[in-house]
Amino acid sequence: MNIKQITFLTLNTTFLWSCTSDSTMDLVNSEPIAEQVGFAKDVKSIIDNNCVVCHGATPIPGTNLSLTTYDKVRDAVLNRGLINRIMLEEGNSSLMPQGGPKLPNATISIIAKWQEDGLQQ
Ligand code: HEC
Repeated sequence: MNIKQITFLTLNTTFLWSCTSDSTMDLVNSEPIAEQVGFAKDVKSIIDNNCVVCHGATPIPGTNLSLTTYDKVRDAVLNRGLINRIMLEEGNSSLMPQGGPKLPNATISIIAKWQEDGLQQ
């Protein structure tokens, strides 16, 4: 094989490979869009189970944040960095739930998608 043939083969392989990965992307993009996340049906139980022990109607000393209603949780996402807090690394003292353990990724994704979907009630 001479250098021309090698170059041709290399270019050809690169070309084929990029076609393959393009069609994979098309497949991913054509997947049906998952259902919209809503507060009442998806988010409230997560907050109740992981946050309200401290962020109840009367929050524990050290925070004035209550997360007992749709309006309060929505406001915490918009103005108090709720999503940043749950995405921090394990061991970061600002991670919520405070003291850890970090919420499972699937649970964090639901809350992040809730924001992407427009914080529906
Ligand atoms: C063990 C008690 C405890 C739990 C459980 C807990 N938090 Fe907190 N949280 C606190 C305390 C205390 C603070 C205030 C100190 C700080 O800002 O880190 C706080 C602060 C916050 C803040 C920032 C408030 C502000 O005024 O800026 C957010 C947002 C928050 N928590 C969200 C959550 C969410 C969401 C959960 C559940 C996934 C959660 N917390 C679970 C104790 C807790």
